[in-house]
Amino acid sequence: EQIEKGGYDHFMLKEIFEQPNAIRDTYRGRLLVNEAIVKMAGVEDNMKKFLNAERIIVVACGTSWHAGLVSEYIFEEFARIPVEVEYASEFRYRNPIITEKDVVIAISQSGETADTMAAIKLAKSKGAFVFGVCNVVGSSISRETDAGAYTHAGPEIGVASTKAFTTQITVLTLIALRLARAKGTMSSSDYRLHLQELELIPEKVEKTLLSDDHVKEISAIYKDATNFLYLGRGFNFPVALEGALKLKEISYIHAEGYPAAEMKHGPIALIDEQMPVVVIATRKGHYEKVVSNIQEIKSRKGKIIAIVTEGDVSVKELADHVIEIPASEEALSPLLTTIPLQLLSYYIAVMRECNVDQPRNLAKSVTVE
Ligand code: G6P
Repeated sequence: EQIEKGGYDHFMLKEIFEQPNAIRDTYRGRLLVNEAIVKMAGVEDNMKKFLNAERIIVVACGTSWHAGLVSEYIFEEFARIPVEVEYASEFRYRNPIITEKDVVIAISQSGETADTMAAIKLAKSKGAFVFGVCNVVGSSISRETDAGAYTHAGPEIGVASTKAFTTQITVLTLIALRLARAKGTMSSSDYRLHLQELELIPEKVEKTLLSDDHVKEISAIYKDATNFLYLGRGFNFPVALEGALKLKEISYIHAEGYPAAEMKHGPIALIDEQMPVVVIATRKGHYEKVVSNIQEIKSRKGKIIAIVTEGDVSVKELADHVIEIPASEEALSPLLTTIPLQLLSYYIAVMRECNVDQPRNLAKSVTVE
């Protein structure tokens, strides 16, 4: 097992550091920047279905559901297709309204999650076209879906999902870009820019991973906290949910993720000097508004850990700690902002002597209801 961990203390840390290559493997052969083409057989073969779709319904569980939420912002922005993101477990029991004009995208790392499988069967029985985004090749879900695209992240052993999440977002971004081009919903300059930027993401993830030691220092300060709040807006709202989920899963600290503007409708009541608040405050993404949320947290003495764009000035003046990430297009920023949140949960869990790779009560894939 030590050999399989490749010199890392845990599979989770190894998988966090594998992300630059995992993302490269995900877009290899699919993202052709020079030709300005996105090529995915499962999408090409079913282009009519995608183009006729009146909406996309994403079904998934856990971290895969969070990737689905990120994709909602991306599909709507790039391809102007309305998207609904559903917990597979709710969808399957709700007699959902679904027709042949719907495209259902099922996202699952393992391809074995029982609720997601049941949601797929239900959608198929109502005539919808079901597209799978799985990591495990030949898995049950990849066989049950009408078509699909693998994430090619390689085996993910740690129960807390890391590289599966970023590679799912990568695949979904590629699909959204392909549809945007086919539908003409994105200007060609914007389309090309996003292809170029997506190609640069692995390098930027590498750069983001250099914050490792800094995140470790921050982790040591907050490892004994009993609650954490995570805030983000727009494309980074789902990242806040995912950051909170990671902390809960492996460190057993209660954490909640919220859209930053919703703070005033509840969570703000919780903020005092004991409360660390992780805020995703990258430039472009409603920056000014998030800065004013940070001011509100500060005036209530909350401790602020902010994820900011390199060279940031305003947030630095207010926050207790800042973690810098390289600048990127806003729609692609979740691929970067997620990284320090994964590291934060990892180091806090290690410092609390938790079983990082096999947290209590959790399973890598939930194959029963
Ligand atoms: C379990 C795992 C999570 C995962 C979820 C969905 O809860 O612990 O890490 O996100 O299942 O799994 P899937 O394989 O369908 O993505």
